[in-house]
Amino acid sequence: MLTTIDELRNWSNEQHAAGLTVGFVPTMGALHEGHLSLVKAANERCDKTVVSVFVNPAQFAPNEDFHKYPRPLENDLKVLKSAGAPEVFVPSVAEMYPDGFDASVHIGGVSQPFEGQFRPVHFSGVATVVLKLFNAGQADIAFFGQKDYQQVCVVRKMVSDLNVPVKIAVCPIVREPDGLAMSSRNRYLSAEHRRQAVVLSRSLAEAERLISVKKEQKVKNIVAAMTKTICTDTDFTVDYAAVADPETLRELDIIDPLKHSAVVILLAAKIGTTRLIDNAVIEL
Ligand code: PAJ
Repeated sequence: MLTTIDELRNWSNEQHAAGLTVGFVPTMGALHEGHLSLVKAANERCDKTVVSVFVNPAQFAPNEDFHKYPRPLENDLKVLKSAGAPEVFVPSVAEMYPDGFDASVHIGGVSQPFEGQFRPVHFSGVATVVLKLFNAGQADIAFFGQKDYQQVCVVRKMVSDLNVPVKIAVCPIVREPDGLAMSSRNRYLSAEHRRQAVVLSRSLAEAERLISVKKEQKVKNIVAAMTKTICTDTDFTVDYAAVADPETLRELDIIDPLKHSAVVILLAAKIGTTRLIDNAVIEL
């Protein structure tokens, strides 16, 4: 296990010196099949894989779940061992943010809507830590999940605007058998709320049916149907449900297949103290 930035950089340099490619999977731990699908993709596409496990304080607001975020490190290490035993990078907060640390990466447009409205510090925290991890890890390809769709947009924009020498690979959302997108935060749910949480993926399926089968073009009708699916007879409240351009994340009012070859449906909803996100890309 690597714990310092120097150790990670040296490890990566050694792999490159031996002519090997390096895949990087950044995570906050509490690993599940979604994370492991990224590890699998990295193992398939790169000679060596490194997984970082770091609960990044910079991407949590003071009222969010940084302190209660699950940290089952021993189990994570065990799970990774049986997932091809990648190298693991587990830095301390002091290693990543030493006293006097005073920088932050701000990405414009794509970080503003949706999660940006509800979590104003979130994406600068993500961009800052991901850039630090990229600089330390020197990987050829970094693997992210579509589960955090807007995060992928922010990371891509950062890599492109700041000329970061890494390729970004995006892996599909891994879901539970009932459709709930896997998330480290699902473990916060009570049994009853876990049962209700199926409405999130159902609402995306409903939106997809309206767009692809019913040819519904008015986003307000799609959002109304999604909200009804999510909130009827459940304890959910919706932070947002929206249809957007898959690249710019500009919110759409009308879905016009002549203007768009695909759209992304994004949603965030709260149940009890837990906040869940999900999304679906729909080809038109
Ligand atoms: P974390 O939530 O641990 O997620 C790590 C990676 O796993 C992200 O790229 C996320 O999109 C992916 N992932 C999570 N659930 C998934 C699922 N059900 N299917 C497919 N992929 C899934 O995202 C973060 O950590 C942090 O913001 C991080 C990028 C590590 C920066 O701190």
